[in-house]
Amino acid sequence: MPKILVTGGCGYIGSHTIVDLLDHQYDVISIDDNSRSTPYALAGIEKITGKKIKNYKVDLKNFDETRAVFQENPDINAVIHFAAYKAVGESVEDPLQYYENNIFGLINLVKCVQEFSVPHFVFSSSCTVYGNPEHMPVTEDSPTGKAESPYGATKQMGERVLQDFAKSTGATTIALLRYFNPVGAHPSALIGELPLGKPQNLVPVITQTAIGKLPKMMVFGDDYPTRDGSCVRDYIHVCDIAHAHTLAVQYLSDKKNKSRCDVFNLGTGDGVTVLEAIRMFEKVSGVKLNYEIGPRRAGDIVAIYANNDFAIQQLGWKIKYNLEEMIRTAWQWELKIKEAEEMVKSN
Ligand code: WQD
Repeated sequence: MPKILVTGGCGYIGSHTIVDLLDHQYDVISIDDNSRSTPYALAGIEKITGKKIKNYKVDLKNFDETRAVFQENPDINAVIHFAAYKAVGESVEDPLQYYENNIFGLINLVKCVQEFSVPHFVFSSSCTVYGNPEHMPVTEDSPTGKAESPYGATKQMGERVLQDFAKSTGATTIALLRYFNPVGAHPSALIGELPLGKPQNLVPVITQTAIGKLPKMMVFGDDYPTRDGSCVRDYIHVCDIAHAHTLAVQYLSDKKNKSRCDVFNLGTGDGVTVLEAIRMFEKVSGVKLNYEIGPRRAGDIVAIYANNDFAIQQLGWKIKYNLEEMIRTAWQWELKIKEAEEMVKSN
């Protein structure tokens, strides 16, 4: 089966995508410098699939080391590129670190894709490129270029680099996948989101508050023009996101898809408020969540959710997990982490 290079393979979405690719008999290698991840995910992948993944501990900003991976693997059929920094708040505090890491890393990678004539490239993009959309649900043709953070700007720029690269050579077919809000964990609870330090995203904050790692959580504003005053997002299970990457590789490999660079929204199409997500957590876990309503968070958009028709029609994507399963798998994963931490303490 074709060999796929996954960058960021030890990360949250990267590790789940590797499991899905292996389940579909692809041969997979990873590049991950573990600056924002641990090799722990590779052990989880092996437990789930029985397959050992070779990870090259390489920083994509180092062109020679990146190129050496392609030299050693001249048969790479597709690259799926996840490796990037993604903390919105941190990107505002330290924008140069984000531009250097996310853009230089991408350009080095694409230079190798060009030199070694890699046929296909899948890019991890984000709904953040839509900014604060006026019309909902957003389609792939909705206005972009309105990212409110340097993080989002690197996703916009990454898309533009790839669109221009595709036009210039035409040798590599490209898919840009715009994720909405990835949440949840693999049903085995052997891999999941491992936020380094204090989590910023809603669902890990909920589960860490419930498990006692965080004293309480703040709901950032309940005075928005939404059905209950809290912000609306399109939460999507990480395994549904992962499978969309396998489908994207299959789509790009299909000779009839002549287009050089396609964009796909990866969301459920359902908008869920912060307070609805909290209610769902309390229903699933039976735990009363300790939260307070606080001031709005700078940079937050009011509402966004996807029109996902194009991904469903073109990729044959079918969403498997609903909100209850997203929250349940996230909670099962948090419980598993606690169990593992207690085991380490007792040894
Ligand atoms: C969701 C909602 C918060 C924490 C994220 C990533 C971004 C991109 C898109 C991948 C907001 C509220 C949160 C808390 C809260 N992902 N919230 N209390 O901001 O939509 O963006 O998904 O490309 O990288 O940052 O997600 O989970 O941070 O926030 O009230 O303690 O939850 O205000 O309304 P966001 P989020």
